[in-house]
Amino acid sequence: MRSKIVAGNWKMNKNAEETQALLAALAAKLPDTQAEVMVAPTFVNLAGAVSELQASRIEVIAQNMHFAESGAYTGEISADMLMNIGIDTVIIGHSERRAYFGETDGILAQKVKAALDKNMRVMFCFGEELEDRKSGEHFNVVHSQLKNALFDLDASAWNKIILAYEPVWAIGTGETASPEQAQEMHACIRKTIADQYDTAVANNLSILYGGSVKPGNAVDIFSKPDVDGGLIGGASLVADDFIAIINGIA
Ligand code: PGA
Repeated sequence: MRSKIVAGNWKMNKNAEETQALLAALAAKLPDTQAEVMVAPTFVNLAGAVSELQASRIEVIAQNMHFAESGAYTGEISADMLMNIGIDTVIIGHSERRAYFGETDGILAQKVKAALDKNMRVMFCFGEELEDRKSGEHFNVVHSQLKNALFDLDASAWNKIILAYEPVWAIGTGETASPEQAQEMHACIRKTIADQYDTAVANNLSILYGGSVKPGNAVDIFSKPDVDGGLIGGASLVADDFIAIINGIA
């Protein structure tokens, strides 16, 4: 179902005490909002986060998972392990996973399938690099990222998919896509999904923007009709900033 979503991707930040402190601050300050609010602490702090947020409507989600059920995959985490501690949503395809850990579209397709097979919700990230945008290839790049990882899915699977468009040139750089650039790409993504499936699937889909969203630019970005919220990195590590961003969507 299409809903407004603000999610914090904590990446490799915050130890156990810091995680607990940030979650307590967020839970205490969470505004009354229609938006779904999610946080993605590191793996070692997920179980603690779930118990810390038991009485809160903030959802704890995972940053990654492996596609196999179990077995000899040293250092990896399965969908079952996540679900077993109360995690129902997983980020897949973040550009840092693609760039630093060799995650190809093919690997991501397997991860998406594995998560959906377990009835998990997938927040699928994708987006072009700076050179792609400069050369005018950004729409083609995004189309092929979606096609390669997601277009084998049945239409019915899409109610478990959230898309997060994150232009790589805007992640952690302080440079944001303008609200117009975000809207242009989000509208194109929605049309791509409508063409591949149908308008019902496309119109039910939440498409988030990610890349240097801050309290100062969130309202303008979130005001665009095809932007259903944001995936927030750096600014999600500071309670007041993340809360201000959530307020930007109300
Ligand atoms: P940023 O990260 O907000 O720090 O740019 C966004 C992301 O990587 O999801």
